[in-house]
Amino acid sequence: MPERRYLVTAALPYANGPLHVGHAIGAYIPADVYTRYLRLKGEDVLYICGTDEHGTPITVTADAEGVSPKDVVDKYHRIQEDAFKKLNISFDNFSGTARPAHYKLSQEFFTRVLEKGFVYEKTVERPYCPSCKKFLPDRYVKGICPACESPDQRGDQCEACGRQLEPHELKNAYCSICKGKPEMRQTKHWFFKLSSLSGRLNEWVIKNTQWPSNARNFALGWIKEGLEDRAITRDINWGIPVPLKGAEGKVLYVWFDAPIGYISSTMEWAVNKGKPDAWKKYWTGEETKIVHFIGKDNIPFHTIIWPAVLMAEGSYSLPWQIASNEFLNLEGRKMSTSRGWVVWLHDILNEFDSDALRYYLISIAPETSDADFNLNEFKDKVNNELIATLGNFINRTLTFIQNKKGGVVPNGNPEWGDPKKLEKDDSLSPDDKAIVHTLYGSMLSVGSEIEKLKLKHALEALLHSAQQGNIYFQKKEPWKGDNDTTIFLCANLCRSLAIMMHPFLPDSAEKVWKMLNLEGSVKDQHWESAGMLAIKPGHKIGAVEPLYRQIEDVQIDNFKSKYLRIAQEKKTEVEKMAEIDYEEFKKMDLRTGIIREAKPHPNADKLLVLQVDLGPLGMRQLVGGIRNYPAESLAGKQVIVIANLKPAKIRGVESQGMLLAADESGSPVLLTTDKKIEAGAKIL
Ligand code: MF3
Ligand code: ZN
Repeated sequence: MPERRYLVTAALPYANGPLHVGHAIGAYIPADVYTRYLRLKGEDVLYICGTDEHGTPITVTADAEGVSPKDVVDKYHRIQEDAFKKLNISFDNFSGTARPAHYKLSQEFFTRVLEKGFVYEKTVERPYCPSCKKFLPDRYVKGICPACESPDQRGDQCEACGRQLEPHELKNAYCSICKGKPEMRQTKHWFFKLSSLSGRLNEWVIKNTQWPSNARNFALGWIKEGLEDRAITRDINWGIPVPLKGAEGKVLYVWFDAPIGYISSTMEWAVNKGKPDAWKKYWTGEETKIVHFIGKDNIPFHTIIWPAVLMAEGSYSLPWQIASNEFLNLEGRKMSTSRGWVVWLHDILNEFDSDALRYYLISIAPETSDADFNLNEFKDKVNNELIATLGNFINRTLTFIQNKKGGVVPNGNPEWGDPKKLEKDDSLSPDDKAIVHTLYGSMLSVGSEIEKLKLKHALEALLHSAQQGNIYFQKKEPWKGDNDTTIFLCANLCRSLAIMMHPFLPDSAEKVWKMLNLEGSVKDQHWESAGMLAIKPGHKIGAVEPLYRQIEDVQIDNFKSKYLRIAQEKKTEVEKMAEIDYEEFKKMDLRTGIIREAKPHPNADKLLVLQVDLGPLGMRQLVGGIRNYPAESLAGKQVIVIANLKPAKIRGVESQGMLLAADESGSPVLLTTDKKIEAGAKIL
C-alpha cells in the first residue's frame, strides 16, 4: 500500500459565544465520524481544530459584554472545549489563534506572500465613525446588501445571500455601535492579489471532481464572476500585528490568519507529542489528503481564498476535500442566537445523552439541503429507531445469552465468516447464511458511505443491519430451543455493530464492547474485523444493561419551556386579552418605588426577594422573577409597583405587591421612570 495519510480539520469556531446544535452537525460531528472511521481503518489521521480568536466577531462581543477581547476568547474557548468533550469530539489537538506560535506563523505567511509579489499596499477609503472615533471594519458596520438588497447585513458577509462583502460596499451603511452614519476616510491597507490567481484556481477547482457540488459550483461561479484583490489588513486594535514598518496599528484580517490556524494547531500537536517536526508530513507532499469540514457560509474562504493564499505562499499542500453542510433550522425557523431561538450544546447535553444527540443530528444531517431540528422528532427518532432497532437487537441478544445460555456464547463456527466455507456448509439455513452476508456487507457499505461523506446513508445502513438482526432473531424463535447457531451469529453481529457504531455513537459502542466482555477498547479494533465472526464459542459475556434511555414526552416539554425563549414570546403575541373599563384600571394603585435591597429567594432559582421603598406607604417586601438581574445591581433602582395587590406567599415568602416588567423573549426587563423622582409617587 502506498504511504498515505489524512489531515482532517473542522472550521475554527469564533470564540465569541457557546456552540449550538447547528454548529455541531455543520462540521464537528461529521469530521469526527470521518476521523474515527479512518482510525479504525488503520489510516494515519489527525483531527485538528481550535478557536478562531480574532476579528470583529470577538471585539464586538467584548464591547457588548464590557470586557477585553482576551477575556472573551479565554471564556468561550473553555466553554466550547467543554461542549466538544461532552459531545465526544475526538480532536487530536484543539488550539487557539491567539497563541504565540500562531502569531509567528501568520506573520511569516504574510511576509512570504509579500516577498513573492502577491501583496501590495494601497490607500483606500473606508467607513469611519466620527462619534465612535474609529474605522468600522466588517461587523462594525451594517447596511443593505448590494447583491440581494437585504437590510441590516453585516459588513463582512450577507447572511441572506452568502455574498462576501467589504464594509464600504453596503448601502445606507450605519455604525453598529452608535447607529450613526459613517463618513469615508482614507486609510492604508495591504491587498492580496487574488485576481492574479484566477487561472490557477480555476484549473485546480475543475480538477477537484471529488468535491461536493455545493462547494464546487460556488467556487466555479465566483471565479467566473471575476475575482477581485482583497484587503488582508484591518484597522482594529485586536489581532496579529502586520509585520512591517509603516504598518503600526494595523492587524491582519481575521480570515487571513484563521485558516493558518489549521497548520499552527498541527504544529502545536507535534510539540505536545515531543516530536516538533512531526507536523510536516501532514502539510507537505502528495501523500496527505487534507480534508476541511465546514459550514456552508465558510465555502468562499475554503474553496478560493485560503487555497489562493496557500498557492501564493507555496510551501504547503492544498486541500483535497471540502466537506460542507447546509444550514440547520430549528422547529421550522432560522436559528437566531440574538433572539434566543437556539439549542445550545451545553443545555441539551445536560439533559440528554451525547449519543442520542449524535444519532439524531447525523440522521437529519443537512448534507445536500437545509434540515430542521425538531425536538419531538428527536425523541421519536431516538425511541423508535436508535432504541427500538439498534438498542433492541443488542439488548435481546445479550439478555438471551445471559438468561438462557448461562452468559456463554454457544456453539458455532467462526470460519463461517469466510464466504467459501459458508456456502459449502450444509448445516446452515439460508437465513443463517443471509445474516452472515448482512454482517459482512454492512461493514462494506457503511464504510463506503462514510468515505463518500454520505453519513446519513451510512447511519441508515448501520441501522438496517440491526433491523436484519431483529428479523432474523424473530424468525428463528430461539426461545423454542435449538438455538446455538442463531445465538452464535447474533452475538457476532452485536460485535460487528459495536465496531460500526464507534464512529457515530462512541459511548454506546464502547458499552456494547464491555457487555460483550471483549478485550481492549472498541476504538482499537480494525474496521474490516466487523465483517468477521470473531467471537468464539464458549466466550463468556459481561454484565448486561440497557444501552440507551428512552426519552419521555415530559422531558421534551420541559426542555422546550426551559430553553426555547421565542416559544414564550410567540405565546404573548397571540394571547390578546379582553378589554377592561377605566373603572377597573383605576382600582390599581401604581406607585414608584426604590429598591433598597435584593436577595436570592431561598427556595426558588428564578426569584429574588426585594425590599422596596414606597416612600409614604413604607417599605414593602416583593418577590419578583427577575433573577436575570444580578441581585447586587438592583439596590437604588427606580421601579414601578402595584401597591394594592393582595399579599401572597410565593414559594414560602410573602410578597406585598408586584413589580412591573416587560417581557423580552421570556426574560423580564424592569419598568422605570424617565427621570429620578421620589419614592411612592402615584402613577396617573
Ligand atoms: N471562525 C469562522 C466561523 O465561525 C470559521 C473559521 S475557519 C478557518 O465562521 F478556516 F478560518 F479557520
Ligand atoms: Zn459609531
